[in-house]
Amino acid sequence: MKLFESFRIRNLELKNRLVRSATWDATADVTGAVTDESEALYRELARGGVGLIITGYAFISASGQALHGQYGIHSDDMIQGLRRLVRAAHENGSGIALQIAHAGIGADYLVQKGLTPLAVSKITRLSRAHREMTDEDIEVILEDFTSATLRAVEAGFDAVQFHGAHGYLMSQFLSPLFNQRRDKWGGTEENRRRFHVEAIKRARRAAGSGFPLMIKLGVRDDRGKGLTLEEGLAAAQHMVAAGIDSIEASTGVGTSMQVMKEGEYERAYFRERAAAVKNRVSVPVIAVGGIRSQELAEEIIVSGDADMVAMCRPFIREPGLVNRWLNGDMTHAACISCNKCFTSRTTGEPVTCIDEKEAKNRSGI
Ligand SMILES: Cc1cc2nc3c(=O)[nH]c(=O)nc-3n(C[C@H](O)[C@H](O)[C@H](O)COP(=O)(O)O)c2cc1C
Ligand code: SF4
Repeated sequence: MKLFESFRIRNLELKNRLVRSATWDATADVTGAVTDESEALYRELARGGVGLIITGYAFISASGQALHGQYGIHSDDMIQGLRRLVRAAHENGSGIALQIAHAGIGADYLVQKGLTPLAVSKITRLSRAHREMTDEDIEVILEDFTSATLRAVEAGFDAVQFHGAHGYLMSQFLSPLFNQRRDKWGGTEENRRRFHVEAIKRARRAAGSGFPLMIKLGVRDDRGKGLTLEEGLAAAQHMVAAGIDSIEASTGVGTSMQVMKEGEYERAYFRERAAAVKNRVSVPVIAVGGIRSQELAEEIIVSGDADMVAMCRPFIREPGLVNRWLNGDMTHAACISCNKCFTSRTTGEPVTCIDEKEAKNRSGI
């Protein structure tokens, strides 16, 4: 099967084409540092046979933290802890990429602390207090992305993945719903993607030519008059020209329930987006969202709609899923997409499959 063949992203050789999509696990301590629990989780995942693990989103600066328990990559103090995740992956044969993010106005964590998040533009219709970024703020955040990339290199990660999806800062820059600036960072399509192109060029210069730079891209918004697919695809092409080596296709501005569709089991709901990106760029494309079997994953790759397949929730429930398949038990992933693991967002608990018993009863697969 193609799915289980080795695959290459720039200098990175992976043992198969299965990816653990970035998953916030809420195990970091209050400073953003890796804990014993985080290390154990990554060790278990790597032992489970997945080719590439993309970490949960790590905040590149304190102003960009979205949720509790997120990993930080905002200071050199984080490097030593992150090395533990890298070791856990490498000792067990998996590649590991650090997902780097700034939440922009979506920094719920700051709001809970009574702080005011930064926004690309002042948006009067929003009830959440926010402050429009100055030119200087933008420059600082661009440098924070570069520093985060360099720290990831120093920690031993095989790649970084920019979080350019799910309504966070990079999505906000691309989206006309959130980017109403009239300077070089907003307005026209070209200006709205300028932040990405600049962040990627700087990361490429800093990390060197061999280091893989990936992006999870909200190729279109799923709200109102947001980013169109055509604009998203043009942006993807410019990002590749700037130095991106792989694109995982997801949604931009929308709700979290559009990212992880509840009850969607074995329907690859963003497949068309991945295929559309694949049509436009020559770098490896990753499909994500709703994929629950090796048959569907294989078919997506064989059809040419994507080069790799990522899953998130199935690995929360079954970190050993890939080896289970490789050992001949081809039954579908046990995760039933009920989204109960995501309630940690409000409870403050680490992310776990909190519905295993019910999942077992309902899936029967
Ligand atoms: C608990 C949880 C945490 C997530 N954390 C992240 C994250 O840190 N970064 C990200 O890009 N997506 C995150 N996602 C979205 C997933 O990576 C993925 O895009 C989505 O769940 C669809 O894939 P699936 O159907 O295989 O779960 C998260 C999803 C869940 C359920
Ligand atoms: S709680 Fe468990 S079964 Fe439900 S979506 Fe999360 S991992 Fe899947």
